[in-house]
Amino acid sequence: MTVDVVLTPAEIDHLPERDLSGTSCVVFDVLRATSSMITALAFGAEKIHPVRTVEEALALKEQWPDAILGGERHGDRIPGFDIGNSPLEYREGVAARIITTTTNGTIALRACEHAREVLVGALLNLDALAHTVRSASDLLLVCAGTFRDPALEDILAAGMLCVRLPGSELTDAALTAVALFQQHQPDISAALEVGRNGRALLAKKRQEEIQWCAQVSRFHLVGTLTRGVVVPLPPS
Ligand code: MLT
Repeated sequence: MTVDVVLTPAEIDHLPERDLSGTSCVVFDVLRATSSMITALAFGAEKIHPVRTVEEALALKEQWPDAILGGERHGDRIPGFDIGNSPLEYREGVAARIITTTTNGTIALRACEHAREVLVGALLNLDALAHTVRSASDLLLVCAGTFRDPALEDILAAGMLCVRLPGSELTDAALTAVALFQQHQPDISAALEVGRNGRALLAKKRQEEIQWCAQVSRFHLVGTLTRGVVVPLPPS
């Protein structure tokens, strides 16, 4: 297995032009989009529509009136939406169908939707991800980032997944992600407070969300993006 890592949003911009027909992609947006999606699936959500814009979300809501609108801009709930992008909002009583748009995470998911498979990655489901991708031949770990910048927590998660795939051929970008993980282990929760996203959440007194997202392999499930919708991947 060859493992490569997309480190920056600028690289994500060009993913639609890449031939990913033989590639398994894992998208990480640890704080907080993919963590919220995995949490929602763990608490019973059945379908999650990640969309790029608020306008797309509102149009989809017309098609699925029972869906809830979730997501954020600048980390806060979008006015008129039902919930924001805190994983704590996607637990008990979560809706079966969710439409969501976030600053980076939903963009990253849609940018690689033409890949052989697209998996939703978080620290919350790391071991399940490793189990799912163990037989892939070409793996691309996509770090969603924060606005136009790399996100430390996403790259760290990519490194944590790499070390769970022994024998893989790692590109320099993957080796960089591993080095970042090795620098910050074992205190993963503290590492999530280092980057821009973590610092912004701390400033808003949202440390509980960071601690939730830092739970490694809390859930043994994987979400997969198929025809624009994230659904739980059947256990293999
Ligand atoms: C993102 O998509 O950039 C993040 O999930 C933003 C957030 O949740 O605050």
